Amino acid sequence: MSVQEYLDKHMLARKIEDAVNAAVRAKTTDPVLFISNHMKKAVPSAITKIKARQILDSRGIPTVEVDLYTNKGMYRASVPSGVPCGMYEAVEVRDGEKGKYLGKGVSKAVKNVNEKISEALIGMDPSLQSQIDQTMMDLDKTENKAGSFLAIARNNLYAEIGANAMLAVSIAACKAGAAEKDVPLYQHIADLSGKGDPVLPIPAITVLSGGRHAGNNLAAQSVIVDKHGSCGCNVGEDGGFASNVSRTLLLSVCLLLEKLQRSILPSKASLWPLLSISEGLDLVKEAIDRAGYKGRIKLAVDVGATEFCIDYPIASIEQPFDKDDWEHTKLLSNLGICQVVGDDLLMSNPKRIEKAIKEGTCNALLLKISQVGTVTEAIEVVKQAKDAQWGVIVSHRSGETEDSFIADLAVGLATGQIKAGAPCRGERLAKYNQLLRIEEELGDQAVYARENWRMP
Ligand code: PGA
Repeated sequence: MSVQEYLDKHMLARKIEDAVNAAVRAKTTDPVLFISNHMKKAVPSAITKIKARQILDSRGIPTVEVDLYTNKGMYRASVPSGVPCGMYEAVEVRDGEKGKYLGKGVSKAVKNVNEKISEALIGMDPSLQSQIDQTMMDLDKTENKAGSFLAIARNNLYAEIGANAMLAVSIAACKAGAAEKDVPLYQHIADLSGKGDPVLPIPAITVLSGGRHAGNNLAAQSVIVDKHGSCGCNVGEDGGFASNVSRTLLLSVCLLLEKLQRSILPSKASLWPLLSISEGLDLVKEAIDRAGYKGRIKLAVDVGATEFCIDYPIASIEQPFDKDDWEHTKLLSNLGICQVVGDDLLMSNPKRIEKAIKEGTCNALLLKISQVGTVTEAIEVVKQAKDAQWGVIVSHRSGETEDSFIADLAVGLATGQIKAGAPCRGERLAKYNQLLRIEEELGDQAVYARENWRMP
């Protein structure tokens, strides 16, 4: 090919002339930088390479990280992982090789990304999120094989490719898509969902949790130290204080649940002591008062009972009963005391959400993206919940990574609520810090969910 043929084939003369003209029109002080950026925008929008690796999550358990390359740069994402709660959530592919990471390695999922997924997605435009996600879904034969059965139970969903492999790629593509459009990630997500304006969510910050580890310096700490000594300030997996009282609290909550259950079914009634749950909630209440936030902070508990809602400003109760206890969850919802959130009950599964909406079982969704599998499906279930006038909480997992994607997701989908643990461990902080950056970036345009947190 001659030089002239080459120039003609790539229309180089015209493209360079356009860039120079644009620089002149803009009267830019740095024309070379301007021209180079201008030319970059003319580069085709395409995924050029996908590379996955095994990394560790906040519990030291392997998980998948993906670097997705386009002509514009490299975009990285990693997936969180929680305690699997059964047959209705998308499946993480794990190696099962006992000698390595207790069988929890993800080298098979990594291989799936580096081979099958990569082959299918190279060349695709990263801003076309639903096409990318659909291509990955089509790759997973388990979905087709199980057919209509999967419409009810998703026990094989993505079991071949792995929801962990797919989600890492889906999130990385979402980040690349935002960069391609030259908009912030939360805005790209808002555009994908068809939802207009981003909203900064109310954070449900963990204060008390079960577990053990190191301490920190939150307002609640001084109250706990006063009453339970410094060992009371150990922190749990999600960064919440894990003092003895919180272990007692957890136990008491379980007991209280039984009490609630029995009060709903009086024939089996037997009362349990309320002392410890009140003690735990008193600690939090006093910490709020001491920090100067009296009346401005409401409480959310992951399991609950009606009795303490009367004395404490409880606004939200998550997963009050067993994952298959539709009946009692509905009875609690019908009391109309506060938001009742389905976590294990729903498993972010569209069919379970549909059933709960129809039967009025609960009135909020806890969205765990790794239970769903792709960004597109996550957007769909949020829409489903919002169309039913439900609240939506975007949630972290107990095993997290430093990826802050869920912060942008909560803002972009205007869910109004996010649960990302306590602001004291890096992987939890990553989400809260990203919210702070988004708030700064939005400036005067920032809308905070405030009192409108259930229906922003
Ligand atoms: P997970 O739960 O263990 O399912 O991730 C975490 C949570 O609900 O906070």
